[in-house]
Order: sequence, then structure tokens, then C-alpha cells
Amino acid sequence: MTYRIAQISDTHLSETKPFFVDNFLRTGAALRESRPDLVLNSGDITLDGADEEADLIAARALHDALELPMRFLPGNHDLGDCQDAPSHGEAPIDAERRARYVKHFGPDWWWFDVPGWRVLGIDSQLLGSDLDAASEQDAAIADAAAGLGDRRLALFLHKPLFDQSADEAAITGRFVNPRPRRALFASLGDAAPSLIACGHVHQYRASITGATQHVWGTSTAFVLPDVLQPRYGVKEVGYVEHRLMPDGSHDSQFVRVPGVPTLDIADFPGAYGPL
Ligand SMILES: [Fe+2]
Ligand SMILES: [Fe+2]
Repeated sequence: MTYRIAQISDTHLSETKPFFVDNFLRTGAALRESRPDLVLNSGDITLDGADEEADLIAARALHDALELPMRFLPGNHDLGDCQDAPSHGEAPIDAERRARYVKHFGPDWWWFDVPGWRVLGIDSQLLGSDLDAASEQDAAIADAAAGLGDRRLALFLHKPLFDQSADEAAITGRFVNPRPRRALFASLGDAAPSLIACGHVHQYRASITGATQHVWGTSTAFVLPDVLQPRYGVKEVGYVEHRLMPDGSHDSQFVRVPGVPTLDIADFPGAYGPL
């Protein structure tokens, strides 16, 4: 049995600033047609759930209304950014923000098995933080990796691990930073994921390093203009369908949803202020 995951990401939903709800609803209608085994939102579920609980509540209700099997991972806008990310005026993760997220969306790390695969989801904003939950997550990652057996590993998280290489030294808010990246690889031990899928950049990209295919899932909502963000891949909205085969092979495809426009955040100064 092939297991199909529809990875949506960066939906940026809000109670009071519902600029991106229409795109979500149209994407959701396509998902209801497609009937994947799982819909996985890889973070930035909300516009500002880190500070506005109403955004968490509204986003959860919109997902529940799809009546599809669903799992969630938090992004920086849902519970605060990584503590080691350069500040852009965005709050860092703390225990209170994290608890609020977990209250509405469930555990921020988890794993489950399907034929041929273990699917592991983690909270990239916890990586390298001083929260107790960070070391608990590290231990859970080590457990999940150690018990892999013959299965392949698919790792999902909000932020990409790096641009081109695991050796990159830059400290950024765009990628997992060097120290927590090394710690994550240490937790994984000998278990090299066959697939690492993320969101956060609002661009689709697929690349391979070593035994791992890295897939960046784009946003369902909007892209960032080139003056604010380099072009790494495809700046279009949509979602990604991952097909995990029992023999350990997989296939990940970018899906454009007809009738869903690629919005530009520069046209929505009411969302995050003038850019
Ligand atoms: Fe985002
Ligand atoms: Fe993000």
C-alpha cells in the first residue's frame, strides 16, 4: 500500500486578518477531491498564533472543517522563532507560547509507521532552545532513529536544514542554524533520512545531498518578492504530494491547484506591516 501525504504549508490563517483564507479553502477543496491518507501542515499554520490565540483557534477550525486525516507541525509564526535566529522583531519561542500551540494543535513532535517507512515530525523552533522540551525532543528523535529497523525515514519540519550544504556556517532565520543542525544529525545517528521535507521559505524546491532528497513545500498563501528573498526554487503557491512506497522508494510532486492565485505578500501590508 502506497501511503500518500499531502503536505500543505505556510497557510498563514487568521481570525482578524483573513487575507489567505480563500486560498486555503480552495486548496482544501482540492484535497477533499484527492483524498490523501494524510494532510500534513508543516507550519506557519497561522498568521500570528505566536501572539494571538484567536489565530490558533481560527486556523484549527478551518482545518477541522476539511474532515480529512490531519497532522500539524509548528512554524515560527505559530509559537515564536528559534531562539538563535537573528531578531526581526518576532518573538522567540518560550514555554507559554509553545503550550498554547500544543493546546490547539497537539504534540509538536511525533512519529508513526507505514509500510516501509517511519514518518517523523519535529518542531524546528525548539532546536537549540533552552526549553526543557528541547532535550525531550532530542531524545525522542534519537529513539525514533534508533528503532528504525528496515524502514526508511522521512523527516518533516518547518525550516529547511540548509541551502546547499550541511556545512554552511551562516546564522540565519531561514535555515536551521549550524549548532542545532549538528545536534540534530547527532540525534539521528546512523539514520540518514531518505526524505527531508520542510516549509518556511514559501518556495518549492527539490534537491539531493548524499542519500537524502530535500523537498521544500511551498505556501498555500503567498510568496515573497525577489527584493526581500532570493529565488531558490519555484515561487508559486500549491502543495506537495509525497508517495511513500512499501519498498522504501518515494516520489514527491509539486501540485498546483487550479484557481488558487499566487499572492505576493507585498500586496498585503495589513498582514505583517509594510515590508
Ligand atoms: Fe511562512
Ligand atoms: Fe516560517
